[in-house]
Amino acid sequence: MKIINTVTGLKKQVKVLKLSPLGFVPTMGALHEGHISLVKNATKRCPLVVVSIYVNPTQFNDKDDLKNYPRTIEADLALLKNHLRKDDIVFTPDDREVYPAEDKRIFSFGNLDKVMEALHRPGHFNGVGQVVSRLFDIVEPDIAFFGIKDFQQVAVIKSMVRQLKLGVRIMSCPIIREADGLAMSSRNRLLEKEIRKKAPVIFKTISKAAEMICDNDIPEIKKFVKSSIEKESGFRIEYFEIADDTDLVTISKKSEIKTGKRYYGCIAVKAGNIRLIDNIEIPLV
Ligand code: PAF
Repeated sequence: MKIINTVTGLKKQVKVLKLSPLGFVPTMGALHEGHISLVKNATKRCPLVVVSIYVNPTQFNDKDDLKNYPRTIEADLALLKNHLRKDDIVFTPDDREVYPAEDKRIFSFGNLDKVMEALHRPGHFNGVGQVVSRLFDIVEPDIAFFGIKDFQQVAVIKSMVRQLKLGVRIMSCPIIREADGLAMSSRNRLLEKEIRKKAPVIFKTISKAAEMICDNDIPEIKKFVKSSIEKESGFRIEYFEIADDTDLVTISKKSEIKTGKRYYGCIAVKAGNIRLIDNIEIPLV
């Protein structure tokens, strides 16, 4: 694999190789098996793959979160070396390469930026829109790979691609879990030991919630989710919502379920000081 940290260097290399489809896996580093599954999907489908590692400041609404975000570049490169081929590229730009001038663009994502994550992380999706569109301009991929753990992010990026009429296909890939069910996340390594031990309660609870849809309405399911998680000390729910996967309309009663749509139970939990998200498809009754 090649490591490139400038936009001109990357563009030159991609042009020389002229391979298509060009696959792209954008990351913020602190790589784990979830990222590697995106890389494997990309290398299976694309003769040339670019993986970017860039911690984007514009998507952090909390300065401490940005400061504490794990940065593990040496370990990331060592891991990628096992999965990328000779010509594949790891793109490691700095802030000046990504934002030569301040990005003042304001995106309009409608409802996608008014529910769930958006209520707890103001400005987050605008920052995601800025960096992903900028990275798409730089890399010019044919296919870009994202993990569905960031369920709302995937919907926002698909909307941005439609709005900007970009010629890139967005592929969402399944959540990869630890053996005990915890969704893999770069933030898992920041969990305190005792909190980490209890963290599988999140997936266990939303899995049960997905089963409960047969015999219960949404208020009962929400009550169950809140009490199951908050009975663990150090765990507090930010939200649990059931939403469709395109417009992210959250529903409060089963009678609001629309045929032809797929629904997901989406959760954000404060586990000690760390914020974790997860989701599961809710089978329609
Ligand atoms: O999902 C992430 O890691 C980030 O939000 C992304 C898509 C790399 C943009 O910074």
